[in-house]
Amino acid sequence: MAPARQRATGVYDHRPPLRRPFTQGRGVSSTQIDPEQYRAFRQFLEQSCGIVLGENKQYLVNSRLGQLMQREGIADLGGLLWRIQDRPMGGLRGRVIEAMTTNETQWFRDNYPFQILQELVFPELVKRKKQQIRVWSAACSSGQEPYSVSIALQEFQSRGGRLEAEILGTDISPAMVNQARLAQYNASAISRGLSPDRLSRYFHSVEPEVWKVRPEIHRRVRTQQHNLLESYAALGRFDLIFCRNVLIYFSTESRQDIVRRICQQLQPGGYLVVGASESLARHNDDLEMVRTHGAVIYRRRFPGGR
Ligand SMILES: C[S@@+](CC[C@H](N)C(=O)[O-])C[C@H]1O[C@@H](n2cnc3c(N)ncnc32)[C@H](O)[C@@H]1O
Repeated sequence: MAPARQRATGVYDHRPPLRRPFTQGRGVSSTQIDPEQYRAFRQFLEQSCGIVLGENKQYLVNSRLGQLMQREGIADLGGLLWRIQDRPMGGLRGRVIEAMTTNETQWFRDNYPFQILQELVFPELVKRKKQQIRVWSAACSSGQEPYSVSIALQEFQSRGGRLEAEILGTDISPAMVNQARLAQYNASAISRGLSPDRLSRYFHSVEPEVWKVRPEIHRRVRTQQHNLLESYAALGRFDLIFCRNVLIYFSTESRQDIVRRICQQLQPGGYLVVGASESLARHNDDLEMVRTHGAVIYRRRFPGGR
């Protein structure tokens, strides 16, 4: 078994040996990145959060970690990994992962999943005599996805649909989870995908150019930090899972493993929604494709394949 320090950081294989950071460091520069240190950093990132960094993405490391490393007085990636291992409780590991993730999101992203919820998924769950469902927005970023689900349900209810939901939003980034929990958004975030009608119905202004999700939408959503590489057992079972625009950053093996484990968290007949560009065609025999509204979502088969 790996030494405790290595287990804590998830960094198992560093060659060449990591060097102490220079305290007067000026931050990493793409022209200076040592290929071996870059390889070790890619390995660290994939083991920590699943993200596969391309072989030639040194510029991304530079743009996302340059300032952080400069502030910390760390000269190069070897020094950064050394520091993460040397001070496992220092919070640097989390900040590096946070800086390397892409948090891009918007309200009602791609539209069709929310239309499908209102026109197919919610009515079908009601037909199956469900009154209360559980929804998981895995990798929810700053919360636009779980709140869009909550608004879609509110609109379904306003047309007579009798269904309630508990919605869990999770993300690896504590900053994103805090933002999602706060449910306050500035004009730039609000402008991305929210119609003026939905803004006035489901948000209220808390200060100039800042809006908060109204309590009737907010109350359904609970948020917590969670890494998709870790166990899902404590999260429970769900009727509907959104896992969108995150698996594209992972390896095929991680993707397959995550989809298999997500599927285990779905109730039979439960639905999985993935990103518009993410096909699961060959990933799981327990999932069937449902083609509707010119798009595809997935449903967990009932036992016996019904
Ligand atoms: C591009 S955003 C997608 C947000 C939302 N699902 C959407 O489609 O609009 C990707 C999110 O995945 C999160 N993420 C990356 N790796 C993760 C992991 N291993 N576990 C959980 N979340 C992760 C990032 O922090 C980021 O907020």
